[in-house]
Amino acid sequence: MATRLRSVLSKHANKAAAAVAATTATSAAAVTLLSDDVVHPLHLPWDHTGLLSSYDCASLRRGFQVYRQVCATCHSLERIHYRELVGVTHSTDELVEMASEVDVVDGPNDEGEMFERPGKLTDPLPSPYANEEAGRAANGGALPPDLSLMVKARHSGQDYLFSLLTGYCDAPAGKPMMPGLYYNPYFPGGAIAMPPPLNDGGVDYEDGTPATISQQAKDVVQFLNWCAEPEADTRKKQAAQYMLVIGFTALMTGYYKRFKWSPYKTRAITYVK
Ligand code: HEC
Repeated sequence: MATRLRSVLSKHANKAAAAVAATTATSAAAVTLLSDDVVHPLHLPWDHTGLLSSYDCASLRRGFQVYRQVCATCHSLERIHYRELVGVTHSTDELVEMASEVDVVDGPNDEGEMFERPGKLTDPLPSPYANEEAGRAANGGALPPDLSLMVKARHSGQDYLFSLLTGYCDAPAGKPMMPGLYYNPYFPGGAIAMPPPLNDGGVDYEDGTPATISQQAKDVVQFLNWCAEPEADTRKKQAAQYMLVIGFTALMTGYYKRFKWSPYKTRAITYVK
């Protein structure tokens, strides 16, 4: 992925250079480019988007680690339950232990009281804030959205998320930035309330993969893609099976038709007076 990513990036750099050359030639094109308040994300060659390709489980495991250690401070992932991660990122025992570290409010009990108990596999992942207002209050008025379906909720889903996470840079001269907002050209308007979440070496991957910003972004985006579409692998496998069966049925139907029709098609009719 890394080498393919690099080749796409260098191709894009050439395109960008060509675009700059073209815009200096035609001012109309320059106006169109500049009047857009957002940079469109690169199209990246994700490993899991092919018809016959599946998610990279090692990457999903690393992505879940990035989510838990970085994004979970601010973002919930409320549609995902621990049990759904079994066999995808971790084993049952690892997840039972991970879930039991969280205190979940349950109840009411026989006396009508709510009580806390250790988490179970059937619990959803814990949310960082009790409610929307608490989330806004902790983030200068901006609510960190739930990430479960985020890949589906934005144009160019995973490409946008990758570009957003890796695209923070200094605001260009003349762009006023309000306090508490950060410049990110991929976010519509350019000013986002999310501080740059990823740092080189920000997490310690247990498989020894170097935790660069782009590696963490790739892993967490692939993980969020799985969250939005956990059934993708099964769906592709079943589609391949259906296509095989349908292809075989089509062949057999063709053969059957020819077999049945062959006496009629090959007979010679002669009329004798
Ligand atoms: C310090 C808190 C914080 C952390 C940590 C954080 N975010 Fe955010 N995030 C926010 C806030 C606040 C917003 C809302 C930004 C806005 O509306 O301006 C946001 C928005 C987003 C959005 C939506 C952008 C859009 O197009 O609306 C995505 C996607 C996102 N975060 C992904 C992530 C990922 C992935 C991580 C972990 C690598 C992460 N965030 C870590 C606070 C955080």
